[in-house]
Amino acid sequence: MSQTERGNFASKIGIILATAGSAVGLGNVWRFPYLAGENGGAVFIIIYFACVLLLGIPCMLSEFIIGRHAQSNTARAYRKMSGGTAWTIVGFMGVLTGFLITGYYAVVSGWCLQYMWASIVGHMSGEPAYFQQYFTSFTQSGFKPLIWLLVIMSMTFFIVRSGVQSGIERASKVLMPTLFILLLIIVVASCMLPNAEAGILFMLKPDWSSVTHDVFLSALGQSFYSLSIAMGCLCTYASYFTRKTNLSNSAIQISVIDLFIAILAGLMIFPAAFSVGVRPDSGPSLIFITLPNVFQQAFGASQVLQYSMSLMFYSLLTLAALTSLMSLVEVATAFCHEELKISRRNATLLVVTSASLIGVFCSLSLSGYDGLTVLGMSLFDLFDFVTGQIFLPIVGFLTCIFIGWVVPRKVVYDEFTNDGTLRDTFFRLFLFLVRFVCPLCILAIFLHQLGVF
Ligand code: PFF
Repeated sequence: MSQTERGNFASKIGIILATAGSAVGLGNVWRFPYLAGENGGAVFIIIYFACVLLLGIPCMLSEFIIGRHAQSNTARAYRKMSGGTAWTIVGFMGVLTGFLITGYYAVVSGWCLQYMWASIVGHMSGEPAYFQQYFTSFTQSGFKPLIWLLVIMSMTFFIVRSGVQSGIERASKVLMPTLFILLLIIVVASCMLPNAEAGILFMLKPDWSSVTHDVFLSALGQSFYSLSIAMGCLCTYASYFTRKTNLSNSAIQISVIDLFIAILAGLMIFPAAFSVGVRPDSGPSLIFITLPNVFQQAFGASQVLQYSMSLMFYSLLTLAALTSLMSLVEVATAFCHEELKISRRNATLLVVTSASLIGVFCSLSLSGYDGLTVLGMSLFDLFDFVTGQIFLPIVGFLTCIFIGWVVPRKVVYDEFTNDGTLRDTFFRLFLFLVRFVCPLCILAIFLHQLGVF
């Protein structure tokens, strides 16, 4: 299939917004603030910054090189670049990881829609215990989350089936700026609350005594998750880049946007939380239980203000989730379209339907249905564990080895410099990082997660 038949992104801004759309997601607005909250605020942010710089950017660039060079879906890209060896399996694992994540990512995205709706109909106010009970009864209600899951998956379907340019690129150009504006409004409102400085200080003043090796490992894992590394997305999107795209600049710009949005998410949550005396270390329940309560206490003096704050917050969360879901669905869609030789529309339908089915089981597993628990974990937790803690480090590690040691240096150099037309100042540094630093660090997280040290 030629490049024109496959389609590609039409503009530089489209490339940046679509790929940043994949990176900016629940990981930035949900996972980053709660991990920073649990791991000492500023210290976590500094270590996270170093992880993005030294590990995230080189790994992202490695996937860009593979995708743009091969101009095909992720599985085929590894096959093409390795001459058809066992490396194909790594590409295939990337596709599988992206696909498996789609189901449970869609479940949480559906929760965001429910909370958006609840903000509109005025259900987001009550005593602190109410929010806990609201979340538990909603997520365990069986049927309700499934409706929202289907809504968000249908939205994703309509965007992705329209293709790379008229679907993904066009939607990203609208959704990403909207997300950014909503975020800025809430940040300003949050930072203007009385006592908000305590939250800002929490993000700026490092307390080095709270550093343990767990902080490093969480920061490293989060940087990979947040930048959409090792799940086939970056490689698939890069296959739609043009020959003129400057890969290293794009990787830097996208990582900076992702980092910036995560910091803004912190600036939206911590000042409001500190202002009403709530510690932001409640873990994953932060945005669905703690935050509605924070909004109620911080903005409750005016009901209109409180409802609009919570509506804006859950809308922005939904937009962030949607642009990431689009990229996740695109990974398997490109694969099915090219490998099964079915139309793009049918490929999208196949992927969305099967991922929704996984989502249905994940969602029901939270309602305590017998038979949806494996190894003592709900299916939801199992998918999170298998993809995030096993597949992600394996694919990430092998991708670095592939680019650093297997693919001929000349091929990597030509992609890095666009056939010698761009400066190669950082090429040696890049190669050093992907050959040694990245694989060793990824190996460290993997062994730690398996409890080896
Ligand atoms: N990077 C997204 C986030 O931060 O929420 C999550 C994600 C999207 C991970 C796409 C992986 C992926 F391929």
